[in-house]
Amino acid sequence: MRLAVYPGSFDPVTNGHKDIIARAAQLFDAVIVLVSVNAGKHPSFSTTERVNMLLEITKDFENVRVDINDGLLVDYVKRVGAVAIVRGLRAVSDFEYEFQMALANKNLYDGAETVFLTTSTQNMYLSSSVVKEIACFGGDISHFVPESILGAITERLTNKK
Ligand code: COA
Repeated sequence: MRLAVYPGSFDPVTNGHKDIIARAAQLFDAVIVLVSVNAGKHPSFSTTERVNMLLEITKDFENVRVDINDGLLVDYVKRVGAVAIVRGLRAVSDFEYEFQMALANKNLYDGAETVFLTTSTQNMYLSSSVVKEIACFGGDISHFVPESILGAITERLTNKK
């Protein structure tokens, strides 16, 4: 059983994240999408909201589940016996941050490898911040987030200007 963990803030989850989840689900026997704490970010969506959106968009993936972790990623990875940490890479600008995180995690725990999946070209310039910025000013984010959670995201962000 080769288990992978895909950690992130998912604030909110976008088509870019969903694409990585779908591809990871094909590579591994099971995938845990892990809503985690990025100490450098102040999320706009609550943990419950982010988990609910992820549950909605992953409901058709039989080998994907969603969980929450508010501690160190490697402690969680070790506890569940995962062999890989999955991360999406968009542009070169992601590389330094991701490289640093992968090395730090490997240093803390040698039992799992970080696996990078390159993003699909249509998601190259997509990010959760871009989605929030556009929605906040009433722009159309329908091309950026999964259809099943579009209403929830739009309603929540357009009321937050
Ligand atoms: N397509 C489009 N966009 C993508 C993407 C893809 N394939 N993959 C990532 N992104 C975007 C996200 O939308 C997000 O955009 P934003 O910065 O505008 O919000 C950004 O890239 C990265 O966010 P995300 O993938 O959600 O994760 P993160 O970088 O916030 O995650 C953690 C970092 C949570 C994994 C890390 O802080 C962590 O492991 N925390 C736990 C504590 C710990 O162990 N810390 C030590 C780590 S060394």
